[in-house]
Amino acid sequence: MAVTLKEHLIAVPEDAGRLILVLSEQAKKISQGFFGNLHIAGSKNIYGEEQLELDKWSDKLILTELEKSSLVRNFASEEQGEIIEFSKAEGSWGITVDPLDGVSCVATNLAVGTIVGMFNEGNVLEKGTKTDAVIYFLYGPLTTMVYAYKGKGVNEFVLDEKRNEFLMRHENIHIPKGTIFGSGGLKSKWTGPHTKFIEELEKKDYKLRFSGSLVADFNQVLHYGGLFSYPATTDKPDGKLRLLFEANPLAFIAREAGGSSTNGQKPILEIVPKKISDTTPLYLGGKKEIELAERFLKK
Ligand code: F6P
Ligand code: MN
Repeated sequence: MAVTLKEHLIAVPEDAGRLILVLSEQAKKISQGFFGNLHIAGSKNIYGEEQLELDKWSDKLILTELEKSSLVRNFASEEQGEIIEFSKAEGSWGITVDPLDGVSCVATNLAVGTIVGMFNEGNVLEKGTKTDAVIYFLYGPLTTMVYAYKGKGVNEFVLDEKRNEFLMRHENIHIPKGTIFGSGGLKSKWTGPHTKFIEELEKKDYKLRFSGSLVADFNQVLHYGGLFSYPATTDKPDGKLRLLFEANPLAFIAREAGGSSTNGQKPILEIVPKKISDTTPLYLGGKKEIELAERFLKK
């Protein structure tokens, strides 16, 4: 019989385990919330993107339950403009949440996800090296959960809907050798070094895979190897993807799975954030691919 998430969490500190369970319960609700809810809300988040009802609903769900848990002091969400402090909290965790990543894919029924970063010391406006744990959920043909607690490996669970329980699917994942690559942004707006890097991957017979949902595209790299990128472009020199909510958590998972990350100049986890809405050029994947990216991009 497969190990349950609850059983597996014995290996992590008790309060972290409790938080991860609270989050996994919210993911179960989100995975059931898609049906009948794919219409557009008409409002915009701080990046000017339209929010679906589902974004707002997922955000509220996670916020409410984390506050109730009393374990979280600081909460930062991609859908909120600022860090929210739960002043009555007994615990001191800081949490970053992208409640529904890849939301533009929802209406066409591609996989989307929830990405969560966890900081034991509470401050979320931190370098990624300060991260203690990351979880992401992927709502695809199956609902899966990948989590990594610092130094304890990367593990994947799958939601068994009959038992309403997350069960072990892959233990101690290491990014394998692979030949998948993805690059976001308009090709006409890529920089010269990025274009040359991508041409080099193509020469080496890397195959393009890019769905428009970061968490789904990264999950593919985690399992098949290769690289995901969303580069600096001429109109967005700081990239599109959010350092706190997207780049850092997935860079943490990549590192814990034996891979690596860069913004072209240094590891993603070494970037000091100035504000919660900071964005970054992003390269994530196997060590070999990240080294190659830096060879082309480093100034
Ligand atoms: O959250 C932003 C996001 O939706 C990511 O999930 C994804 O990788 C990216 O934007 C896709 O951007 P584009 O639509 O420019 O390809
Ligand atoms: Mn996102």
